[in-house]
Amino acid sequence: MRVVRLTFVTVVAVGLCCLALRSSRLLAQSAPPQATAPKLAEEQFKNIQVLKGIPAEQLIPTMQFIAASLGVECEYCHVEHANEKDDKKPKRTAREMITMMMAINKNNFDGHREVTCYTCHRGAANPVGTPLVGDAEPPRQPHQHDAAAAEPAAPAASDILAKYLSAVGGAEALHKITSRIQHGNLVSSGEGGGQPTTIDVYSQAPDKRLSAMHMKNGDSITAFNGAQGWLAIPQRTHIMSAAEVDAARIDAAFYLAADLPSLYSKFVTVPGEKIDGHDTWLVIGRSEGKPPLRLYFDRDSGLLLRLVRYAETALGRNPTQLDYADYRAADGIKIPFRWTLSRPGNNRFTIQIDKVEQNVPIDASKFTPPPPPPPPPTH
Ligand code: HEC
Ligand code: HEC
Repeated sequence: MRVVRLTFVTVVAVGLCCLALRSSRLLAQSAPPQATAPKLAEEQFKNIQVLKGIPAEQLIPTMQFIAASLGVECEYCHVEHANEKDDKKPKRTAREMITMMMAINKNNFDGHREVTCYTCHRGAANPVGTPLVGDAEPPRQPHQHDAAAAEPAAPAASDILAKYLSAVGGAEALHKITSRIQHGNLVSSGEGGGQPTTIDVYSQAPDKRLSAMHMKNGDSITAFNGAQGWLAIPQRTHIMSAAEVDAARIDAAFYLAADLPSLYSKFVTVPGEKIDGHDTWLVIGRSEGKPPLRLYFDRDSGLLLRLVRYAETALGRNPTQLDYADYRAADGIKIPFRWTLSRPGNNRFTIQIDKVEQNVPIDASKFTPPPPPPPPPTH
């Protein structure tokens, strides 16, 4: 049990969405990339009734969205190793809820997805319909005009992005570095005890990244080579879906600080929450047809403290939060030596880097994708 759990945690660890890796059965169902029209959910799975027409590769992320919205595990609705079965009542209720949610949005919001499972459920299987009576002293409300006076006007997003670029060393210094190898440890995975797990991260400008977590039973790999991404643990490979590739592309952007302004068509700034005692500005990047990117910058240092990216699913967006800390100078630029990746459901781990080498050659073969997994057995 422990080994299985650890494998899961660490794959998620570096990784992108990979609850799917938890079960070999699901993995066997994840199709190799195809040049033809993407497979639909009902073509790949056995008992799809209301999610017909969505790409098959979106089904598992959609399930993750449902589980996170209700604060439950897959087994709340599913018979283990037989996801197609309808034995459990919550699964049948969930089907009705999907239909209801789509009707609400169609009838009230011009078909825009305004209401999702999370809107009502807020992380609980049974939504609360009656306002709660608090038992704490109400917080002292600052007078309206005091609050307005305390909050300085938000700077233009372009100024915040420019300050970030100069805080990490400026475009010229940044572009002098073309590769990076980082060595470190997984410092917290929510799993008590255990030996330290070491990790190596290989990055090559402009857009390649591979992280290898060294597990007792072999390496756990998360990789993106500019075009394709994959997750691998011994004997298992998962080729990233389109949404996973979009996320991996952000993580792999070697010159992110310089390239940010061109990645989104519009940016807005609003006051962000305090992070680790630092006041922040939140810059939200938006482009038509893709999920937004939320970037929290330290108001003093200008450095990026938090990034929240989203993967689109059929019912809502799955968020991934990356917190950056321990910025240190290395060859004329500043890079974070610690980051924490968090997802809904207390899915969180931290990586601490202790050694960085830059402008060292990285063997190109590292970024060659593994052969696609064998086609699922037909039976
Ligand atoms: C709240 C209930 C609920 C939860 C939690 C849930 N699912 Fe589902 N799942 C469903 C429903 C409903 C369907 C069928 C959708 C349809 O009929 O279109 C489904 C279908 C599936 C299928 C397709 C099975 C087949 O062959 O027809 C898979 C695979 C699946 N879920 C995996 C998962 C995984 C993995 C998780 C955990 C991350 C999960 N589900 C969490 C309700 C749930
Ligand atoms: C408009 C509000 C609303 C939305 C949107 C909504 N639900 Fe619900 N859901 C409820 C309420 C209210 C209940 C509790 C009904 C009861 O107590 O009988 C419920 C109950 C459920 C249950 C049964 C829980 C149990 O008792 O085991 C499941 C499963 C569920 N919802 C899944 C979903 C899923 C999946 C979505 C998104 C596709 C969703 N719901 C969207 C309001 C909502």
